[in-house]
Amino acid sequence: MSAEKKPQKMSVTRLQAMKQAGEKIACLTAYDASFAKILDQAGVDLVLVGDSLGMVIQGHETTLPVTMDETVYHAQAVRRGLSQALLVVDLPFMSYVDPMTALHNAGRLLKESGAQMVKLEGGASQVQTLQLLARNGIPVCAHLGLQPQAVHKLGGYRLQGKDDQSAAILLKDAVLLAEAGADLLILECVPELLASEITANVDIPVIGIGAGVGCDGQILVLYDLLGLSHNAPRFSKNFLLGHDSIQAAIAAYVAAVKASSFPAPEQVLA
Ligand code: KIV
Repeated sequence: MSAEKKPQKMSVTRLQAMKQAGEKIACLTAYDASFAKILDQAGVDLVLVGDSLGMVIQGHETTLPVTMDETVYHAQAVRRGLSQALLVVDLPFMSYVDPMTALHNAGRLLKESGAQMVKLEGGASQVQTLQLLARNGIPVCAHLGLQPQAVHKLGGYRLQGKDDQSAAILLKDAVLLAEAGADLLILECVPELLASEITANVDIPVIGIGAGVGCDGQILVLYDLLGLSHNAPRFSKNFLLGHDSIQAAIAAYVAAVKASSFPAPEQVLA
C-alpha cells in the first residue's frame, strides 16, 4: 500500500482555515479543460471561470456581452480538468439583477457546470441577493473595487477607493457583504493599504488583483500571466518570461503568491 498522502481537495472551509493560518491562497482564471488541468496540477487553490472570457477568449472590449449559456459551456469544460482546486464561476452581466434571478442563475451554474461557488460584483445593493443565495446553500464570492461589469458607469478601468470617502464606503461594503453571507471577497484595483485594512476587518478570505500583497491571496487572468494579452494591466506579471514551459510559469506564480513575493512593489498601483 502506498504511504503517499493525497492532496486535500479544496473547499470553502479549507479556504477559511488558510486565512486563519496565514497561508496564502493562489488563484487563477481558466476557460478550458487543458489549462484547468495544468493549473490544478501546479497547486492552484482556486480556479475562476471569469467573465474576462468575453475579452481574452471572445475578443470583446468588455465583459458585458458574455451570456449564461457561454458561461455554463466554459465552466463545464474547466470542471473536467480539475480534481483538487475549487471551481468558482462568474455570474455574467444582467444575470443577477434581482435576488430571484440570481438564485435561478446561480443554481443553474451549480447544477449544470459543477461550480462550487458563484461570483458577483457589487456592494451594499447585493446584500439581499447574498442572503438568499446563502439560505439556499450557494457559496458566493463577492467582488468590490473595480467592477468590470460597471465599466461604463465607472468611466474606465481605474484604481478605486483613492479618496477617504470612497475608501470608507469600500470598507463598509466589505463588512456588509461578509455579514450577509459572502464566503470570499475579490478586491480589484484598490490601494494596497486599504486592501490590507479590509483584509484585517473581515472574517472571510480576501483575494486581491491589483490590490497589493496584504490580501489573503492573489488572482490573475491566466492570459495576462502568460503574456498573451494585448493590454495586460500594470499590476500583472508575465511569468512565462524566464521559464521554459507554461507548467513552470504557473508553478512560479503559485510559489510567488505563497511566499508573498507577488505582487512586488512594481506591481502595486498608487
Ligand atoms: O472575470 C474575471 O476574470 C475576474 C477576475 C479578474 C477577478 O473577475
